[in-house]
Amino acid sequence: MEAEMSKKMPGVGSFIVSVILLMASNGCAAGKEKEIGVYEIKRGDFSLNFTNWGATVISVILPDKNGKLNDVVLGYDSVEEYENDTTYFGSVVGRVANRIGGARFTLNGKNYTLVANEGHNTLHGGKKGFSDVIWSVKSHEKDSHITFTYDSFDGEQGFPRQSRVSVTYMFVGTNKLAVRMKAKSLNKPTPINLAFHGYWNLGGHASGNILSHTIQIFGSKITPVDQELIPTGQITPVQGTPYDFLKPQTIGSRINDLPNGYDINYALDGQDLHRAAIVWERRSGRKMELWTNEPGMQFYTGNKLVDVKGKGGFVYRSHAGFCLETQGFPDAVNHPNFPSQIVNPGEIYDHIMIYRFTAV
Ligand SMILES: *[C@@H]1O[C@H](CO)[C@@H](O)[C@H](O)[C@H]1NC(C)=O
Ligand SMILES: *[C@@H]1O[C@H](CO)[C@@H](O)[C@H](O)[C@H]1NC(C)=O
Ligand SMILES: *[C@@H]1O[C@H](CO)[C@@H](O)[C@H](O)[C@H]1NC(C)=O
Repeated sequence: MEAEMSKKMPGVGSFIVSVILLMASNGCAAGKEKEIGVYEIKRGDFSLNFTNWGATVISVILPDKNGKLNDVVLGYDSVEEYENDTTYFGSVVGRVANRIGGARFTLNGKNYTLVANEGHNTLHGGKKGFSDVIWSVKSHEKDSHITFTYDSFDGEQGFPRQSRVSVTYMFVGTNKLAVRMKAKSLNKPTPINLAFHGYWNLGGHASGNILSHTIQIFGSKITPVDQELIPTGQITPVQGTPYDFLKPQTIGSRINDLPNGYDINYALDGQDLHRAAIVWERRSGRKMELWTNEPGMQFYTGNKLVDVKGKGGFVYRSHAGFCLETQGFPDAVNHPNFPSQIVNPGEIYDHIMIYRFTAV
């Protein structure tokens, strides 16, 4: 099992090249849309539905080892329900994902006060972050991809300067999905840190909890947090702690050693486009590998889900899904020792995620 999981992902070089080429040729604009709609992409048995509310993934349909199809992400039946959502099911969060302590930071000698939406801290971009706005559908081809764009204005939720953001979800081959989040600052420096906030349950969204899933996380350090989940600024080894998933273990193996389950950022070990995690679910045989070019990944086990009425009337409880949110380190704007999230004019923020799904 361990040997199997640590095997190198085949063919990664060639498909990255095709991702970059295909994404660069996104000239086939489908025109601006400000209505909230549902959009599908489909390749064989692998299909996804989206809404432009929050550039959200509504469903991910995948076969299991016997070819049976299941929806493996948590969500709602109607698009309207996403507007009242407080779980961030399937959405893209920003302008700065994760928490900013005290809802403030200083950039080039100027203090910025943000909208606080979790106590006196800012979570996922504020009260009305990118997950709570209507994106435009810039390009959509049912058999290949969808691209959403959003223009964030100067002062939005307290953040300085305009930024233009795009998110593309696209198939690569028959069993890979690439997510590419790009942004640029239009005039002055601004922090940007986007994350895809899907909640996965590889046994099917309505199959119960994810504690028996096996996970391997390629991060030998974490950024510990205080009582309010704000990083202390330390970067500490996982060795000898319940956070050590360097070797595959079930998510539930040591979860009871933690007061609230997992909700922590890993400092990933790899450079450039590197493997972040592998998750495997025994009954369905489904396996998900995740690659990214980001330095961090928040591992969250849906600790705060309390009786959320979801798709098909199914009620999601604590640990009904897990999130692997690749991103920069949380609260980096207040920790000079963390990799910077400041995007200067002329620079491009470019966050790549690649999922590879198999079932055996
Ligand atoms: C996805 O959207 C299409 C088109 O609206 C719809 O026919 C299909 O049932 C949806 N699939 C899921 C799993 O919701
Ligand atoms: C969303 O919340 C508002 C205000 O509480 C409520 O009126 C509305 O029915 C809710 N919509 C859905 C789809 O649950
Ligand atoms: C910014 O905030 C810091 C810490 O609260 C304070 O010491 C400093 O004087 C403030 N600077 C400006 C320019 O307001």
